[in-house]
Amino acid sequence: MTAPAVPQRLAAPGPGWTDSVDVVVIGSGVAGLSAALKARELGSVLVVTKDVVASGSTQWAQGGIAAALDPEDSPEDHLQDTLVAGAGLSDPEAVRVLVTEGPDAVRDLIELGARFDTLADGEISLGREGGHHRNRIAHAGGDATGAEIERALVAAVKRAKDIRLIEHALVLDLLTAEDGAVAGVTLHVMGEGQLDGVGAIRTRAVILASGGLGQLYAATTNPSVSTGDGMALALRAGAKVRDLEFIQFHPTVLWLGKSAKGQQPLVSEAVRGEGAFLVDHTGKRFMQGQHELADLAPRDIVAKAIMRQMLATGKDHVYLDARHFGDEKWRVRFPTILASCRSHGIDPVRELIPVAPACHYSSGGVRTDLNGQTSVPGLYACGEVACTGVHGANRLASNSLLEGLVFARRIAAHLADGLPERKEPIVDVRTPGLVDADVVPELQRAMTAGAGVIRSAAGLSEAGATIGKLIEQPADEPGTPGWEATNLVTVASALLAAATAREESRGAHWREDHPDRDDLHWSGSLDLTLPAVAERAVPQATFVPHTEENHRHG
Ligand code: SIN
Repeated sequence: MTAPAVPQRLAAPGPGWTDSVDVVVIGSGVAGLSAALKARELGSVLVVTKDVVASGSTQWAQGGIAAALDPEDSPEDHLQDTLVAGAGLSDPEAVRVLVTEGPDAVRDLIELGARFDTLADGEISLGREGGHHRNRIAHAGGDATGAEIERALVAAVKRAKDIRLIEHALVLDLLTAEDGAVAGVTLHVMGEGQLDGVGAIRTRAVILASGGLGQLYAATTNPSVSTGDGMALALRAGAKVRDLEFIQFHPTVLWLGKSAKGQQPLVSEAVRGEGAFLVDHTGKRFMQGQHELADLAPRDIVAKAIMRQMLATGKDHVYLDARHFGDEKWRVRFPTILASCRSHGIDPVRELIPVAPACHYSSGGVRTDLNGQTSVPGLYACGEVACTGVHGANRLASNSLLEGLVFARRIAAHLADGLPERKEPIVDVRTPGLVDADVVPELQRAMTAGAGVIRSAAGLSEAGATIGKLIEQPADEPGTPGWEATNLVTVASALLAAATAREESRGAHWREDHPDRDDLHWSGSLDLTLPAVAERAVPQATFVPHTEENHRHG
């Protein structure tokens, strides 16, 4: 299969206004706001966010933030669990950075005002999730950790009067200089006072922290803003995107029926961490004997086991049994999930919770080094949009908030050695393109059927053929729906290129036509790039073996 050809830049009106700052941060979740708070010491900082500031994925994170905070735990143990979950593709050096700098980053967050749940003695209460051999997940408000972290960061950014914030703004494309380095961004602002419509912002550095791509699939835990914008923009700017085939499907997303679409309620792994277990429709526990951690095996293993059970029983969901928690534990430890189940007519105190896997997290993204630098000078990335090498083929539960915090700090520390020179943008003569937003539901169906939990050459090829046709439907006029649709097809095409090329099963990438992990041929990553041609281009996947050298510079 050849992946569909995608536009080289978004069709948009010319900028009606210009502005200039030192650093533009795209995105306002844990990664973006942490980066902005650190970078403000270096120069003028502008945060651009697509909706309102707290609308991204961070606020939905339930489980928590993993860090070796318990004296009985150690960064080394956290490292081992992360490497095992990563199924041989995590960069050990990136993981070492994460686990050693993580505890301080969490303490910084507490100093900033984030309130984690504590025990009677005042110590942070630490929970367990899939793939962790120790209790190391700090949580807040029971199961509302992301919301509390986002609250603390938003409050800190609002206190920092020198950080400018533009809400309801979609960044369209990067402006680049003659040498390919960052010179600025173009963006569209929705009627926010003096800045309205398409504009251009000149800048010395861009920090991409725009989150993930869950809206590629029919059902996802991600909010509606997760349309892969940052990854698509980076590809169009010539950056490398890595490990995109490793899309994590969360095993226990509340099953609301066959036709449920868009953002679905999550039932945190922390529920299994507290002793809930999976059963099929006959009441049989099916995780025992599949992995030493049974129901708490790494996420890819549990998702696959659920899919196998669903195929074997002909059902489209399984159940989570947490009735033994009783009323009080549900109310105190999992108030968000309790409310969400009850709002859908399910009482988890008395009933089994119907669950099925749904798209949750992109383990890959825009390739960075340990300082968050991408392959485009002046372009940095952190959070879900980035591939720092931490997650490999499958992210360990609750490592994502930590990764956002740690690598945002590293980007700011790197920029503190000297902001890049300000550059003049060149005129972009590439042919612009725009896809009709009406194609999105069909795109989501095609990706779910062909590039979901279970994949094969035939299924991927079918998805590619469908999306190839969808790309031919142009939008009548530029606007957010068309820009998002174009970003979605761009990322879909790159994902299909990688998932087709990787002829093995590993981590979150499960090929039923290549069911085994193949370390001899596939111990490495696939880098995706968009060839620099004038017209539409097909994303190219290049295999990068995981030698130590390639981990650092690949
Ligand atoms: C969960 O609470 O199960 C999700 C946590 C995560 O994705 O890391």
